[in-house]
Amino acid sequence: MRISGPPVSHPRTETTISQPASSQHSGPRAASAERSAAGSASLPISVANLTKAYGTFRALDDVSLEVASGEFITLLGPSGSGKTTLLMVLAGFTRPDSGTVRFGGDDVTLAPPHKRGVGMVFQNYALFPHMTVAGNLAYPLKLRRVDRSEIEARVRKALDTVQLQGLGERQVDQLSGGQRQRVALARAIIFEPRILLMDEPLSALDKKLREEMQIEVRHLHQRLGMTTVYVTHDQREALTMSDRVAVIDKGRFRQIGKPRDIYERPATRFIAEFIGESSFLPVTLRDGRATIGDQVLRFDVQPVAMASPQLVLRPEKLRILAPGEDGAGLNLLRGRITELVYQGESTLIYVDLDGGPRIATRQAASAAAPPLPGIGGAITLGLAPADTFLVPGGA
Ligand SMILES: Nc1ncnc2c1ncn2[C@@H]1O[C@H](COP(=O)(O)OP(=O)(O)OP(=O)(O)O)[C@@H](O)[C@H]1O
Ligand SMILES: [Mg+2]
Repeated sequence: MRISGPPVSHPRTETTISQPASSQHSGPRAASAERSAAGSASLPISVANLTKAYGTFRALDDVSLEVASGEFITLLGPSGSGKTTLLMVLAGFTRPDSGTVRFGGDDVTLAPPHKRGVGMVFQNYALFPHMTVAGNLAYPLKLRRVDRSEIEARVRKALDTVQLQGLGERQVDQLSGGQRQRVALARAIIFEPRILLMDEPLSALDKKLREEMQIEVRHLHQRLGMTTVYVTHDQREALTMSDRVAVIDKGRFRQIGKPRDIYERPATRFIAEFIGESSFLPVTLRDGRATIGDQVLRFDVQPVAMASPQLVLRPEKLRILAPGEDGAGLNLLRGRITELVYQGESTLIYVDLDGGPRIATRQAASAAAPPLPGIGGAITLGLAPADTFLVPGGA
């Protein structure tokens, strides 16, 4: 039996496709993908050496990735980095030039989209505009010949999940963009697929709703346990939602790891700049000894040799020393305040370091926060050895 969403004329549309878990998943699972099977109905994904070129331009350049059964992984990267292209290859709408895609033990590299059993929400979603919301949601279930009472129950539950209670009878073309996106999300999950692919499904929503939906999608994933590949260019969304984050740039993975590892120990300056706020200070690194001017830096983990080493300064890791405090045990940075920006929960502080560049730091708004010197005032910042690390300055 083949189930599909609305007919689509262009692959960059939302569609839902389901395949019963019978014939096509009998092969052995990839050993590397066997950890933490969150849902019995989920499947691991194994991507090996994928390349996709448009003319001479490589949208995907030798990409490999193992996604464990039930894992939630996010592809994070700037515009044009290849995120949608990779999702399209996983969905079967784009054929790679080389490399393989496996779901469970099965090689699906050349399988058509409707044979892959995945749910999808894409950047440019397509719903039936002339149908009601409930009609759109029921569509994949009707094709599956699910009982009417079961359809009604599932549609109601899906509407609850995406906070569209009471809008079932509304026509899709009478919804806002954000509401439509939520219908698209509901339709992708209504038959509980084993693999879910999502391409910026929340980007059209306002900030508050987006943050609520991030948690909702996360809970949904925990409940249903389907293997999920999620695409965003919003670093906070990636950190909030994912078991692991794969940072992609120019068609290549630059770092793959848990959100905390990616944030706390970015592998390069590019990643440190892309994820979180950072300032950088050039460091002299010789025989494992890192110095800024005549100050020898202290580390918990000594740095290894690298090209043009830079000290990474995250605003929230820098402590403003009170006047007279000696900051024993900390790496110290002295400078003068050039700008103070009140931002509600914190104050953003720009500091021109003595003999060095301008950096940014932050002071959280709190009754305990010491008063700040004004613009032009001297300031000393302390950085704990545990938070002190270097990145190579290149790409
Ligand atoms: N059909 C195509 N023909 C030619 N070039 C393409 C085609 N599809 C994608 N590209 C190019 O491949 C690159 C990667 O595109 P892709 O859509 O995967 O980026 P993305 O990471 O999803 O970006 P965004 O965050 O803007 O959605 C881009 O430079 C894009 O212009
Ligand atoms: Mg895209």
